[in-house]
Amino acid sequence: MLFDSHAHIGDKQFENDREDVIRRAEENGVTHILNVGYDLEASRASVKLAEGHGKVYAAVGIHPHDAASVTDNTLEEIRRLARHEKVVALGEMGLDYYRNLSPKAKQHQVFREQIRLAKELKLPIIVHDRDAHQDTIDILKEEGANAVGGILHCFSGSWAMAKQCLQLGFYISLAGPVTFKNARRPQEIAKLIDINRLLVETDCPYLAPEPKRGKRNEPAYVKYVAEKIAELRRDSFEELAFITFNNTKKILGLD
Ligand code: NI
Repeated sequence: MLFDSHAHIGDKQFENDREDVIRRAEENGVTHILNVGYDLEASRASVKLAEGHGKVYAAVGIHPHDAASVTDNTLEEIRRLARHEKVVALGEMGLDYYRNLSPKAKQHQVFREQIRLAKELKLPIIVHDRDAHQDTIDILKEEGANAVGGILHCFSGSWAMAKQCLQLGFYISLAGPVTFKNARRPQEIAKLIDINRLLVETDCPYLAPEPKRGKRNEPAYVKYVAEKIAELRRDSFEELAFITFNNTKKILGLD
């Protein structure tokens, strides 16, 4: 059993074979998927997808790329969507200084507002951090995000930063890059982290793991991420799958 803790199967890259993709996931032991929104439209679609599939759950939120377009009405709509029974987290939210598609100050504001909303709704958060490690930690601390906890998704920070996130009560999720040859940082984290705080994900359709690198990613491929981590840790695949599955259920309140 595997839980893909971060997928975007609402993406238009799946418009012609979405049902096949979900079926292939199940055939490969990926029984549960968290489908993650990144803007209003994707969040609405995420809820709809989760409504139609028992083991697909939804997160709703605004990605830092889209922070610039956020108004009070946007967050009202996220609040409304979040009341749906299949919505188990808010996100993805956070900071992205790599592409900087929204001004930094606006990214900060929208990240903070969503953390406050998550605390109000008592939902964990899905955090996106790209090249913004220290500011991400600072905002999580300042906003008291440990009250709800959550997941640092597709984690790309150092082990020192990972330790700070773990101390705040967050879980760390690793994606395709851990299978890449030169991925020193995620591989170090895979080896050092307490297995009880680790999750696996695809972030599909992006970042396909080896041996599918460069192709469209899909939830079935989370098995390659889990296999690589098990190899790095010298754990059995079955144990790693079982524990990360239960970790994901726990942080999402699915027990
Ligand atoms: Ni994502």
